[in-house]
Amino acid sequence: MLTVQDKNFDKLSQKFAKNIYGTTKGEIRAAVLWRDLAPQIAALGDKPLRILDAGGGFGFFSQKLAAMGHEVVLCDISEQMLFQAKQQIDASDVPLNISLVHCPIQALSPEKQGQFDVILCHAVAEWLIDAHSTLQGLLTLLKPQGIFSLMFYNKEAMRFHSLVSGNFDYVKRDMKVKKKVGLTPTHPLYIEDVRQWFNQWQLSMICQSGVRVINDYLKHHLPPNFDTQQLIEMELLYSQREPYLSLGRYVHFLAKNP
Ligand SMILES: C[S@@+](CC[C@H](N)C(=O)[O-])C[C@H]1O[C@@H](n2cnc3c(N)ncnc32)[C@H](O)[C@@H]1O
Repeated sequence: MLTVQDKNFDKLSQKFAKNIYGTTKGEIRAAVLWRDLAPQIAALGDKPLRILDAGGGFGFFSQKLAAMGHEVVLCDISEQMLFQAKQQIDASDVPLNISLVHCPIQALSPEKQGQFDVILCHAVAEWLIDAHSTLQGLLTLLKPQGIFSLMFYNKEAMRFHSLVSGNFDYVKRDMKVKKKVGLTPTHPLYIEDVRQWFNQWQLSMICQSGVRVINDYLKHHLPPNFDTQQLIEMELLYSQREPYLSLGRYVHFLAKNP
């Protein structure tokens, strides 16, 4: 197997499932991504699509899309993540056509895996040593007119969140810590850089959304009638408006191959 120094989630797989998907953060992520993706997938027609979930982890979207009858390839470098994916796929009520591929994104190729109608790459780019070249390579697997869904951790939002938390020394160090721990991404990205990459790759942008544009900035003391469902509605409402979009902890770009 090609060796890479990108972040393997073997030691974080349980924490990731619990801290992200088991929380409001996960609900917001799923709601925004699905609001953006669902109509584009529907627009590709009735036939089953070939979908690649690159760095797919336990395959939250892989499972959702496979349950709709699509053929999914889920690739990840973490055996633990793929183990969780397999357990969930085996426990599913409906048969899921998902192939689990234990390899780095950098080892995928159109010769081996073929090309795909849709490629998802969610919350992976910010863990990569070289996101630009890895994503450029990944796009060789996208069919003409195929859809690319990229969600990445937003460095400017990371700075803003640290500022409003009063972590000024951390901001002065450009949010660098001596020892990287937990789920704080090692290589956050600037929105403008990723926009330029999309231009360079001649992708036509379908939509751009901020993910968690409000949740992470909520005050500690909330009104007694505070309601999580209303928060999710507000997240959806403001996710595509500036300046909220640019303050999303993650940003989702959905684009079409020429
Ligand atoms: C934060 S998790 C996101 C998982 C999934 N995409 C999601 O949104 O639920 C990042 C995943 O990327 C995987 N990963 C990191 N670098 C990778 C690489 N070069 N190739 C494949 N997977 C990679 C990790 O092992 C981990 O499972």
